[in-house]
Amino acid sequence: MVDRLDATVTGTGARVLRGVSLEIERGEAHGLVGESGAGKSMIGKAVIGLLPHSVRVEGGAIRFDGLDLLSMRPRDRRRLTGERIAVVPQDPLTALNPSRRVAGQITDRLTGILGRPRAKAESRALELLEEVAIRDPDRVMRAYPHELSGGMRQRVLIAAAFAAEPDLVIADEPTTALDATAQRRILRLIADMRERHGTALLFVTHDMGVVAKLCQTVSVMYRGMIVCRGTAEELFGGSGGHPYAEALIAATPRHDRPDAAPRPVPVEVVEALEAEIAAADDARGAA
Ligand SMILES: Nc1ncnc2c1ncn2[C@@H]1O[C@H](COP(=O)(O)OP(=O)(O)OP(=O)(O)O)[C@@H](O)[C@H]1O
Ligand SMILES: [Mg+2]
Repeated sequence: MVDRLDATVTGTGARVLRGVSLEIERGEAHGLVGESGAGKSMIGKAVIGLLPHSVRVEGGAIRFDGLDLLSMRPRDRRRLTGERIAVVPQDPLTALNPSRRVAGQITDRLTGILGRPRAKAESRALELLEEVAIRDPDRVMRAYPHELSGGMRQRVLIAAAFAAEPDLVIADEPTTALDATAQRRILRLIADMRERHGTALLFVTHDMGVVAKLCQTVSVMYRGMIVCRGTAEELFGGSGGHPYAEALIAATPRHDRPDAAPRPVPVEVVEALEAEIAAADDARGAA
């Protein structure tokens, strides 16, 4: 069970993550926002142990429910993260195996992780497809991924993610491949599934509006650093938030207020963050 998840990761070389520290409580929806390249996806990859080969964890710890993932044997770690952490990816098409029917891609998680017999796994997979509001689950079970729309594929992946009742779901920009209407529906679905299953969620996105709606707590990243963390209300409430969080909100186009033109992040806000990074790098160099 996830009582607390700490992820403290330091990348090497170009310093992908700078001593990032992140905790997600059981059942909490936590948003991770920041500009492109800030390191949001790297955090998710560090937690599930799928960092690119060119990136390594230099120090710190990644703890999941009190277990130190970095000191575990790779096999045990893979098993633990496979069972208890699931991912909803950005691009549903590449995440699904094109040559297998949908049924197998969901039942594998149920037979592999929960050890359910295949027949039971299939009836549970059908229930899950109903739960993610797929109207004709029987047909979808027999379909190949290319026969489904983008939104349907993402529903299938959400069903697969929640199939084995994980403690944590990591959703990394799960709606960028979809049109605006499908995006709203999928976000609603992720929120509903999370609530119903009591699952913790790490939700990675550029979109401040989405985070404000979906997440109770938020971390804002800049160049591998978490610059602030707080409740959605604290950061986006419009009073006393962090200057960078406020600047990011002002830089985001508002669907509800098309007249309010997005404003670029002010130079002095960026300079303050750069100074913080330089000081941290100096301190690390001197140590
Ligand atoms: N394979 C890699 N090897 C080394 N560094 C990498 C690799 N992939 C990405 N990076 C670096 O890691 C940093 C963080 O990348 P990451 O993908 O986590 O950003 P992100 O915040 O998810 O951005 P986006 O919003 O565009 O998805 C980037 O600055 C990038 O240069
Ligand atoms: Mg990313």
